[in-house]
Amino acid sequence: MNLKAEFLENQKTKVEEIEMVLKEYLPEEEGHQKIIMEAMGYSLLAGGKRLRPMLMKEVWQLFSEGKESPEEKKALHAFMAAQEMIHTYSLVHDDLPAMDNDEYRRGRKTTHVVFGEDMGILAGDALLNFAFETAVRAFSYAPSRWHEIADAFQVLGKKAGIYGMIGGQVIDVKETGHAISGEILDTIYELKTAALIESSMMIGAILGGAGANDVNRVEQIAKNVGIAFQIQDDILDVTGTASTLGKPIHSDEKNKKTTYVTLYGIENAKKTVEERTQKAIAILKELPGEHEYLEQLLIQLIYREK
Ligand code: IPE
Ligand code: IPE
Ligand code: MG
Ligand code: MG
Ligand code: MG
Repeated sequence: MNLKAEFLENQKTKVEEIEMVLKEYLPEEEGHQKIIMEAMGYSLLAGGKRLRPMLMKEVWQLFSEGKESPEEKKALHAFMAAQEMIHTYSLVHDDLPAMDNDEYRRGRKTTHVVFGEDMGILAGDALLNFAFETAVRAFSYAPSRWHEIADAFQVLGKKAGIYGMIGGQVIDVKETGHAISGEILDTIYELKTAALIESSMMIGAILGGAGANDVNRVEQIAKNVGIAFQIQDDILDVTGTASTLGKPIHSDEKNKKTTYVTLYGIENAKKTVEERTQKAIAILKELPGEHEYLEQLLIQLIYREK
């Protein structure tokens, strides 16, 4: 097998492992409120790239390599599932009629289209709440690591909230329909997208036992990866196809969004994706452990088509 085929095979196995973890943590579909569990499963298991839990685990391995216990691995899994639930909730709400009003996501009709707008809102709320119900289980799996788990909680909450993803979505919505500066656009990307990637990678580092300096380095790597990721998302909204992306193209144009593409042009946007990624890889090289897969993953993201 050549290197690229080996990388893709490896990645497929990693995605399958993550999906098993997600299934393990989803609630039973039961009770008079059963429809909400169905809507949660519908959006969560629709098949995304699983980038955030993957990054969390890869970073965790850099720091914990060889000395982790099964209990610590279970604690990590609880946070991986929680992070993907939060990300999925952000997508369910992002697609709502009051937000981007999109009808496809992860190759399926969006949650609100299938279950109704009321259930779409509630399914997002439910995923967010259930994420914390899931992550808190880490305390009982690995009680001796309570300090790291508490730190991870703080990151999980903050990066998803008003100083993170929600904050970014607020500015994104508020600044729609008119010209904005590059500085505001960078703030939007940093918050709406990079924050959850920072959360994923920082939690991996924290649970893996990284010291404060390394956690800061990881945050810087993730910020660059996250901004590059959103710029690439904007590029694909123009150059991609709906069937490959599993979501509509030209959503940004429809919603009159200022993006890296509208502000700087496609070629400059592509250049920035490369520069940000190279910056992330340069910091990654300062970290301990075996980071070859992680480097390849970041490079793959530059050229991703979905
Ligand atoms: C989409 O995220 C939203 C953005 C932050 C651009 P992903 O592209 O990671 O979506 P999935 O998880 O693969 O569906
Ligand atoms: C995504 O931005 C930000 C989120 C926090 C969900 P977009 O609105 O560009 O994401 P897509 O293109 O719908 O996935
Ligand atoms: Mg949006
Ligand atoms: Mg959107
Ligand atoms: Mg987009």
